[in-house]
Amino acid sequence: MYLEALPFLGCPLHPAAGLVLVEIRTTAPDGAILRGRMRCSQCGRRYSINDGVLDLLGPLALPGSPAQFTNALALTAWGYERFWRPRALPLLTGQPLGYTYELPLIAGLAAPQRGGLFVDVACSNGLYARTLERLRAGATGVTVGIDHSWPMLRQARAFALAEGLRISYVRAKAQALPFPTGSVVGLTMGGALNEIGDVERALAEWRRTLAPDGRGVMMNLVQAESRAGRMLQRLLTRGGVAFWRLDDLNRRYAAAGLRLRAQWQYGVVVFSLLVAHQADRPVPTSSC
Ligand SMILES: C[S@@+](CC[C@H](N)C(=O)[O-])C[C@H]1O[C@@H](n2cnc3c(N)ncnc32)[C@H](O)[C@@H]1O
Repeated sequence: MYLEALPFLGCPLHPAAGLVLVEIRTTAPDGAILRGRMRCSQCGRRYSINDGVLDLLGPLALPGSPAQFTNALALTAWGYERFWRPRALPLLTGQPLGYTYELPLIAGLAAPQRGGLFVDVACSNGLYARTLERLRAGATGVTVGIDHSWPMLRQARAFALAEGLRISYVRAKAQALPFPTGSVVGLTMGGALNEIGDVERALAEWRRTLAPDGRGVMMNLVQAESRAGRMLQRLLTRGGVAFWRLDDLNRRYAAAGLRLRAQWQYGVVVFSLLVAHQADRPVPTSSC
């Protein structure tokens, strides 16, 4: 957690109210706050910083599904980017969609060189957060990674630190983003919408927090066409992973007030560029 992220952060219950730094107990050589405490300037609720990660959830926040539970395990967090993540899209699509394709696409759509607040929601090990921060290239602002899994966030911080990237990691829910309305220039989410839990609430938070010129870049999975794929997805559904048809997914975006600007589909993997609807423009009922 870096001091420069503080002006951008709010309490999950009162996102418009700032957080006040109450105590710094330990700092790292690069200035990161490793242990400390914050307080909501409105409700006075206290939040701790441990291992360099700001915890807005506390010890009572438990995973809501088997899929979320799996991602809360230290072993999953350790192996996620070391084993699964680089192979995930090529395996899921049968196409050469490695990092060399995926990461420039995400960064190109989010355009972090514009400066401002960039947030990787449900970031796991922080793959997109690191991609954004690398390309911010001196522009003002900060990159924040959000997840509700402690082990994922600890690993994310370790990976960022190893590259010398100043990314602030925050333990929070995608359904209660700790940022004021209209304050986020770029949101990303990679593969997490399928297991996020309350999807409507998570998308509503994208709509609320996106700045008028903000961009939301989403990568997620849709229903498989093949029989084998559908059978596998039915099994995963029992673990709390949801798969929508593409038109259903796009209806959900529109219902949340998110306008679809561009979309690419590779088998079950879909990349979407979303912007917030402005009040003077009607919400379309179909995707573009
Ligand atoms: C498929 S992984 C995300 C991968 C990562 N975005 C990437 O591109 O490498 C799903 C992540 O979402 C997190 N997650 C699931 N539901 C969440 C929620 N409601 N709020 C915050 N994080 C959530 C899990 O802890 C897990 O780390």
